[in-house]
Amino acid sequence: MSSSTAPDAGINAEDLASFHEHLNKSTRVLALLGAGLSASSGLPTFRGAGGLWRTHDSVSLATPEAFNADPSLVWQFYSYRRHMALQVQPNPAHYALAKLARKMPGFQALSQNVDGLSQRTDHPPGQLQLLHGTLFEVRCMDRRRCGHSETNFVDPIVPALAIPTSGIDPTSDEARQAVSAQLQAKQQGKDLDISDVKVPLASVKTHDLPVCPKCKQYLLRPGVVWFGESLPEQVLDNVDEFMNAGRVDMIMVIGTSAKVYPAAGYIEDARAKGARVCVVNMDENDKPAGGWKKGDWFFKGDAATLVPRLLEPVVGRVEP
Ligand code: APR
Repeated sequence: MSSSTAPDAGINAEDLASFHEHLNKSTRVLALLGAGLSASSGLPTFRGAGGLWRTHDSVSLATPEAFNADPSLVWQFYSYRRHMALQVQPNPAHYALAKLARKMPGFQALSQNVDGLSQRTDHPPGQLQLLHGTLFEVRCMDRRRCGHSETNFVDPIVPALAIPTSGIDPTSDEARQAVSAQLQAKQQGKDLDISDVKVPLASVKTHDLPVCPKCKQYLLRPGVVWFGESLPEQVLDNVDEFMNAGRVDMIMVIGTSAKVYPAAGYIEDARAKGARVCVVNMDENDKPAGGWKKGDWFFKGDAATLVPRLLEPVVGRVEP
């Protein structure tokens, strides 16, 4: 493995040159994207620092069991994440990957991120596989009989899930009437950080949660893949089709701890198709499960800085 730990942007000239040489020869490239890609946009990652939401491990809220046990708490968590994602902007790494997709038809981004930031660049949708769904699709809990799903960017999705701006109970009449005042306060950055356990969190009644507009019977749920659930069938088919279409030149593993399967398994699948592996991460311990192999690259640092520099020969300069 080559490793870069130069303090400036985490890139040493020799590694960068060998990466660029390989990129210039590549026509079929994958990128496995994780929460670290959006970290410098201002969104927390799942594991390590920032992985705690109030007293809850973020991962423990992302299960069907958690939703069934306490739909209000789980909706508050996802409403907060929708709200946060809508407040921030894609960063230069999202833009560089979108440009790569447009320049290289044989590029596929496999994103574990549900924050919608890649979609807010002009990344071609056919080259962005949303392995874990998105926060901005919501669907009926009764998937089998009702099956309703919709794209929904309304924030808050229902008034009861508004992020409080002043510590007032968001389910109170006062808070409900203050949606426009809240929008103003939001622009002034006055949202309370309800991920912090010290900030009081009002209890939300189940009947105030979003209800399916079609069957009007079941709750809506976030259109993300929870632990224990299968990845979207169409997405799996698209990735299989790419993998089966021939040799893969490279897989870039960007801002992910690569601990969650089946997503992490694509690294070894790509290797089996001949791919060299390039990891971009803040933490050198977050390596592929199969360990380092000859010819791998590791670029340590912020994806928002490193990815545009790595892709520059193909995409040109992406300004921060
Ligand atoms: N630049 C690059 N890497 C970063 C940055 C950054 N600015 N900040 C953090 N990282 C790295 C961390 O070192 C870590 O390896 O990003 C990784 C984030 O890892 P996780 O929090 O585990 O997120 P991710 O890998 O996306 O999680 C996978 O798990 O909880 C589920 O469904 C959820 O999609 C998610 C999946």
